Amino acid sequence: MSSTTQTAPIPLSRKPAGRVDPGAKTACIRTFGCQMNVHDSDRIRRMIQDAGYAEVQRYEDADLVILNTCYVRENAVDRVKGHLGELNRLRREGRVKKVALTGCIGAAEESAALRQTYDIDLVLGTHNTYELAEFVGLPTMQETYTPELPGTEGGHNAFVTIMTGCNYQCSYCIVPTVRGRMVCRPMGSVIGEVEDLVAGGTGYVTLLGQTVDAWRHEGKRFCDLLEAVSESAPRVWFTTSHPSNMENRTLKAIGERDAIVKRLHLPVQSGSDRMLKVMHRGYKAERYKRKIDVFREAAPEGTLSTDIIVGHPGESEEDHEQTLRLVEDCAFDSAYIFKFSPRLGTEAATLPGTVPDAVVQRRFLEVLRQVEQNAFRRNQRKVGGEEEIYIRHGSTEDGKAIGETWSGHAVHVNTDAAPGKYVKARIVSAGPHVLYAGEPATSV
Ligand code: 5AD
Ligand code: SF4
Repeated sequence: MSSTTQTAPIPLSRKPAGRVDPGAKTACIRTFGCQMNVHDSDRIRRMIQDAGYAEVQRYEDADLVILNTCYVRENAVDRVKGHLGELNRLRREGRVKKVALTGCIGAAEESAALRQTYDIDLVLGTHNTYELAEFVGLPTMQETYTPELPGTEGGHNAFVTIMTGCNYQCSYCIVPTVRGRMVCRPMGSVIGEVEDLVAGGTGYVTLLGQTVDAWRHEGKRFCDLLEAVSESAPRVWFTTSHPSNMENRTLKAIGERDAIVKRLHLPVQSGSDRMLKVMHRGYKAERYKRKIDVFREAAPEGTLSTDIIVGHPGESEEDHEQTLRLVEDCAFDSAYIFKFSPRLGTEAATLPGTVPDAVVQRRFLEVLRQVEQNAFRRNQRKVGGEEEIYIRHGSTEDGKAIGETWSGHAVHVNTDAAPGKYVKARIVSAGPHVLYAGEPATSV
């Protein structure tokens, strides 16, 4: 993970376009935003495959293009607009026939204007993605294509959605508007999916939800579910957590249970109690830090990442300094740092006290520098040690595979081991974002 101003679009597949039956209908899915969207795209992929479409990687090869979108910050929308403009051109040239827009932009009011401007054929929100089935020529199947249905099958890594939506109302956030209130999936259904995935060869399960640790169902809480999953799956991670829901029990379980990757993503957003109140986060900096102490004690080698917003309306220099102090105190291994982006329909978009761009930029760089210095220092401590590395992505042309240690560090390693395998290698150097392992890397 790296410090960044934005969530980069995530490539859905590293596979080349492949051979497509001439005459077969073709579809291209492009995903923007968070892992939740990546997972929704997996479900969309199954729909189009069921409808007889072959998946292609380039717009110009596609009859149908599906943009599965993110609305969380304005730059996410700008990026999608760029793609829509390009698609309009390809459609005029007859190279793309239809365009569908799904995901969080689809659920926002702005989608009506986009539909008109770019002449989009189908716009779907996050709750009615199943309507895509009918659009691609399948019978309407609301029951079949619901979040209950596993999206990924047989991959080495699989996402499992355990809850959707969010019951918080953070001042700046559009998610509750576009994803709705929290809905938790029954424990039996989650465990059943995990067991099926593991039986099908999945070695790494990531539990997903906007506030994953808020999961509860019939008297069970998130930690119960996490423990049960860690009994079934060989490797488990979860994201994204909310500090107010994070129980010490869960933090301790991360340290104690071998199957759980010792990596915690716990968005703090700000180090200032005043800003945390304005943001309606529901905790103070001190309480957040106490949780981090519990995590560090439970998993001293583990990695901790966070989200921070700079330049929220009303953020003073003193507030910013408190954020810098918290970053120093928590010694994050990485952070996603975001410049505040006003989202229509959120409280923060109407608040006074806009922070000038130049100030936001300076604060952004100051937080970034603080995070990177610390991450670099912490990563240096890993140099010289031998690590068991899970291969996430197989080697590219330069022979480097991308893996992950049990402490949750990203590692570049020289190996041709396939994704899903483990190798043992010594860490020879480290940057602020990634560790580098040397050769030879032995397979475990
Ligand atoms: N402006 C900037 N960052 C935002 N985030 C959510 N909404 C906004 C916004 N309006 C950030 C938060 C959240 C992450 C997914 O995106 O830090 O944790
Ligand atoms: Fe948005 Fe806050 Fe819910 Fe996270 S907890 S999705 S930031 S409203």
